[in-house]
Amino acid sequence: MVINLSDQHSLISNWVSELRDVEVQNDRMRFRKNLERIGEVAAYEISKTLAWEEKEITTPLGIANCKMLKSQPVLATILRAGLGLHNGLLNYFDKGENAFISAYRKHKPDGTFEISIEYLSCPEIDGKVLIISDPMIATGASLVKAIQYLKAEGVIEEIHIVCAIACTVGIEFVLREQPKATIWCGDIDDEITGKGYIVPGLGDAGDLAFGQKMQS
Ligand code: URA
Repeated sequence: MVINLSDQHSLISNWVSELRDVEVQNDRMRFRKNLERIGEVAAYEISKTLAWEEKEITTPLGIANCKMLKSQPVLATILRAGLGLHNGLLNYFDKGENAFISAYRKHKPDGTFEISIEYLSCPEIDGKVLIISDPMIATGASLVKAIQYLKAEGVIEEIHIVCAIACTVGIEFVLREQPKATIWCGDIDDEITGKGYIVPGLGDAGDLAFGQKMQS
């Protein structure tokens, strides 16, 4: 399932517009903050779909029948670009466990690339809801590989994917590989360049959030 959070008018569209805007992008703090805010709203929307249980809470004046999240999700993100969205998700799922994966495009001389994963830190994930964030779903290759690595750590109950912008081919690929996943995106674009950048997209999310990296 795919949920485009820009389908309804909301502040999400403002934040996505600012992420895309070359005039605003030079403010890295705003770029990170907008990713964080999208992560927060996605957390709130996802929370409506999770399992809840009744709990009696003692107040100074009596007993309140409250609803509490049945179990805490595992929040995973792909380094480094996913950190902004991850912060937003963690602001709301503040008791969630955390997983981090390094996935990057290892470019070959012929211009193609393969996804290399060299670091994985994962809590107990068996029977848990996984919420994985990556700002840009372009080809979807790094996301799919990251999910495969996480699935090797235990049986995941359900998977939610959070991104700022997804490309249609990337969405198709991810859902072919993970048909039960739900993708929550800030917006959807249709085009992708030969180098795997989304058009119109926003550029390189990691560089815009944290500064240019050295190319190796
Ligand atoms: N990663 C990015 O940062 N931008 C894209 O357009 C695609 C992947």
